[in-house]
Amino acid sequence: MTLTDLFATRSARMRASEIRELLKLLDQPDIISFAGGIPDPALFPHEAFQTAYAEILGGPAANAALQYQVSEGYLPLRRWLAGEMGKIGVACDEGNILITSGSQQALDYLGKLFLSPGDTALVTWPTYLGALQAFNAYEPRYDRLTLAGGNMTPEAYRTAARAAGGEPKFAYLVPDFANPTGETLDRAGREALLDLAGELDIAVIEDAAYRALRFDGEGVPPILALDCARSGGIDRARTIYCGSFSKILAPGLRVGWVCAPRPIIDKLVLMKQAADLHSPSINQMAIHLVAETAYDTQVNKLVAAYGARRDAVLAALAAHMPEGVHWSRPEGGMFVWLTLPDAIDTTDLLARAVREARVAFVPGSAFHADGSGRNTLRLSFTLANERAVADGIPRLAALIRDTLAA
Ligand SMILES: Cc1ncc(COP(=O)(O)O)c(C=O)c1O
Repeated sequence: MTLTDLFATRSARMRASEIRELLKLLDQPDIISFAGGIPDPALFPHEAFQTAYAEILGGPAANAALQYQVSEGYLPLRRWLAGEMGKIGVACDEGNILITSGSQQALDYLGKLFLSPGDTALVTWPTYLGALQAFNAYEPRYDRLTLAGGNMTPEAYRTAARAAGGEPKFAYLVPDFANPTGETLDRAGREALLDLAGELDIAVIEDAAYRALRFDGEGVPPILALDCARSGGIDRARTIYCGSFSKILAPGLRVGWVCAPRPIIDKLVLMKQAADLHSPSINQMAIHLVAETAYDTQVNKLVAAYGARRDAVLAALAAHMPEGVHWSRPEGGMFVWLTLPDAIDTTDLLARAVREARVAFVPGSAFHADGSGRNTLRLSFTLANERAVADGIPRLAALIRDTLAA
């Protein structure tokens, strides 16, 4: 007997992703990486945080900062967030907000709350890899959520879910500048999704991690706002909104939030209590101070910087990619999604890209619940400086051309 024989069945689906392991090897200085979906650390609001932590620890709030905290989260931060949600069409109060340790923790809790083994989660093909990893622990079945013109009827979804021994429970999606595609779901698509969710009587998990990072184009209301308008208020809505400070202020502080109907928040608070009691008090307080004073300035700074990098990457793709390669044109966020001719497997391409071209990306199959998408890949432009664009994209394009010719 070994201890591994004692693991619960749910652990079987917790596997290190091959690709994440490969990408760990990429910090050699001569590799140009478009792989990591991380903010540019040079753009962190360093001084604002330095001032905030000094003020908190040097003043009357020091004890509260170092003390336990309610599981719901730091009240002034929850109130600030309720105000921000109001500005985007979601009238709510602090009772509708739970602070989580990054939005990743919210995804884990929502999997725990809704999914019994064999239940169905509807996700887009592709979707955020971290959501699949969070949900996998609860042993769901995945079905494909088609956002535009799919031919699945609510009845077909329900029949397939029951045949697999469970029920459809939620649809999960990243509607703004999605990870990994960079695409945004338009208003009609959001309304259609709410229709589907209504017919199936399931929850909608709206992952809004990139929402604030719009460079151009018209803003689209959050699904939760459209839901509140049709259902008569947040406490009657079926949408659960997961927000994050990671992409705007700093991911290392691990502060995110859920905005949802009260009965959902009440249950998530109990989970939070059982899991880690609360997110770090001092980080919530520092985020609150920095958000109050510098959130909009920070958003503007990121939009200018990342918007220019997106433009440079799109221009380089247009100049260098061979015929048959297609890509998304994101209006914000961090990612461009490439679709290559069917003959190319991007996992194999990555191995060659790292070895021969010294350039890296994330192969698209990692983001597909069924392992498909083998001819797709994700490029992140957040760290795409001039050299990366001038050298990296032509090298990748040359490798693709070479692979197609072989
Ligand atoms: C779509 C999406 N959701 C959630 C997260 C998790 O972010 P955090 O836990 O830092 O808020 C990420 C991080 O990359 C993401 O891309």
